[in-house]
Amino acid sequence: MRSTISKYVTAFAVLASSVSFAQAADVEVLHWWTSGGEAAALNVLKKDLEGQGIGWQDMPVAGGGGTQAMTVLRARVTSGNAPTAVQMLGFDITDWAKEGALANLNDVASAEGWDKVVPEALQKFSKYDGQWVAAPVNVHSTNWVWANKKILDDLGIEQPKTWDELVAAMQKVKDSGKTAVAHGGQPWQDATIFDAVVMATGGPEFYQKAFIDLDKEALGSDTMKEAFDRMTVIRSFVDDNFSGRDWNLASAMVINDEAAFQFMGDWAKGEFLKAGKKPDEDFLCFRFPGTQEQVTFNSDQFAMFKQGDTPSEEQKALAKAIMAPSFQSAFNVVKGSVPARTDVPDTDFDACGKKGMKDLAAASESGNLFGSMAHGHANPASVKNAMYDVITAQFNGEYDSETAVQELVSAVDLAQ
Ligand code: GAL
Repeated sequence: MRSTISKYVTAFAVLASSVSFAQAADVEVLHWWTSGGEAAALNVLKKDLEGQGIGWQDMPVAGGGGTQAMTVLRARVTSGNAPTAVQMLGFDITDWAKEGALANLNDVASAEGWDKVVPEALQKFSKYDGQWVAAPVNVHSTNWVWANKKILDDLGIEQPKTWDELVAAMQKVKDSGKTAVAHGGQPWQDATIFDAVVMATGGPEFYQKAFIDLDKEALGSDTMKEAFDRMTVIRSFVDDNFSGRDWNLASAMVINDEAAFQFMGDWAKGEFLKAGKKPDEDFLCFRFPGTQEQVTFNSDQFAMFKQGDTPSEEQKALAKAIMAPSFQSAFNVVKGSVPARTDVPDTDFDACGKKGMKDLAAASESGNLFGSMAHGHANPASVKNAMYDVITAQFNGEYDSETAVQELVSAVDLAQ
């Protein structure tokens, strides 16, 4: 009896290990979704694939904004060991497609009708040379404020609508002894704030000229200097320990009633939800003052690295799963972003999500939708990183605003 059972157990173990081996080989996904809210959203994708019998091999690379993830990716590809699928932003997709590294997803895209439901602004990055090379999972935007409702109510602070109102609000919070701005001093986070500050200071045409067209005059202008001056003002409202702090720990300061505001993309909402907080009751979401009409967006997309002449069945299945309307709803409700498809109803989204979807549609309609400089949707990584360096040096007081403007012009020039 014993030996029969042990035979079964052994047979089962062999079967189980071969199954898990086969599954492990299915899709290896490189991503940087490691915070609580991000991991919860990623789980929605994992579960969805699991339900379809597709195995998941996790390759997380911590570090918000994906800077470290892109370094790891480069090393993996260079050593001939590219992951099956990779989370990527904007111009990084284009850069890899240019190198001929990405699988062509046209078959699945045409079978699923992606052309009709993915907005032009995203297709610009999902396609290279007219071919689909990535599946967009969401649309985030960077020009948001996440505010602690209790602190604002206690101090009698109204939602600020202009820069001056924001400065007055930050001052009031600081005077009360709380931290006004929860921030993590990392280049991509400094740049995320700069996205909003430049838009608020110069307006949409200026943002376009400076960040997307890389117009020298705009980059070196008095308006840019004013934007840097405003960064100095914001710098005076962060706490002493901001340097190097992860973005989700900054979100936690707002969540835990320690700080009033965080200027961050809507992935921050994922942290609030994960902590059981409710929009309009515990926290407020609104556009950075002076950018109420604009949306500076970034979209997480999954690109499949070539494994042969055509994408593997698993790669196709992953791409298809990412683009399924029900998945786009379920995933983005948790992630804080909005769907990458235009045909997904907002029914399941909370107030911030509904606002995000409305803002995106309105901005796209009125010509107020712009790729985020900080998140790789305005220019390739070479230019983005050159900008990061200057923005961070200025934020930390290494450059005054005048020097920062000059450095920005020359850094961008050199990077091109
Ligand atoms: C962004 C990405 C978001 C979020 C954020 C922080 O670049 O689009 O999905 O993960 O970084 O890690």
